[in-house]
Amino acid sequence: MLKLESVSIAYGAIQAVRNVDLEVNPGEVVTIIGANGAGKSTLLKGIAGLEKVVSGRILIDGEDKTGVPPHKRVNLGVALSPEGRGIFPDQTVRDNLLLGAYSRGSRDKTVNDTMEREFERFPRLKERQNQMAGTLSGGEQQMLAIARALMTKPRLLLLDEPSLGLAPLIIAEIFRTIRDLRKSGLTILLVEQMANQALAIADRAYVLETGRVTSQGTGSELLNDSKVRAAYLGNH
Ligand SMILES: Nc1ncnc2c1ncn2[C@@H]1O[C@H](COP(=O)(O)OP(=O)(O)O)[C@@H](O)[C@H]1O
Ligand SMILES: [Mg+2]
Repeated sequence: MLKLESVSIAYGAIQAVRNVDLEVNPGEVVTIIGANGAGKSTLLKGIAGLEKVVSGRILIDGEDKTGVPPHKRVNLGVALSPEGRGIFPDQTVRDNLLLGAYSRGSRDKTVNDTMEREFERFPRLKERQNQMAGTLSGGEQQMLAIARALMTKPRLLLLDEPSLGLAPLIIAEIFRTIRDLRKSGLTILLVEQMANQALAIADRAYVLETGRVTSQGTGSELLNDSKVRAAYLGNH
């Protein structure tokens, strides 16, 4: 579904992503783990078309989409739930979801059905649909960010640190949501600092260090890799 071939992304002189090769197959949950500043968010933004690729190629369904702008990538079925959530605090929950749907470019008639589906998935968003998004708890805001991305009806969901800053119980709920989404057939590329939980849920995983892929394997291979354990899982 997604293939990166030697992708590099830079901010001026800073090379944030260096020659990354990565693949996500239909139905997989793939996770990228790595320290702060490793280039994880930059990589997801590159895949969403929000950062320009300096060299290399991004293939979607086998076709070169490297230069395609973000809104057209949404039409190809790629949606990003960004780090920090990126919701509009002074808009209602409902309007945030509508903005998500409209980022697809066209106002289609299924928007209300799609919103109803997300309200079923996240009943708390339904209860709070007329509340300003900024008044939601951190966990609810994260759910809103995921629901907003899902409003575009993606085939590939890019999730950037969905557990960031949340309490353990809420994190468990977020991971439950990710499992449910996988069960529904969605393909997911997950960036996480909760490396343990991310690797436990992932079919495959990549480790990113200063912009480069330094390890890859199945989730359980990396969970049992002593170097990965020492660097990212806080034990040996
Ligand atoms: N908008 C930006 N302008 C300049 N440098 C940036 C910008 N965003 C990120 N960087 C730099 O790029 C590198 C990778 O950052 P990022 O992709 O956010 O890493 P991660 O998500 O793994 O923490 C870091 O060195 C960071 O300082
Ligand atoms: Mg990041």
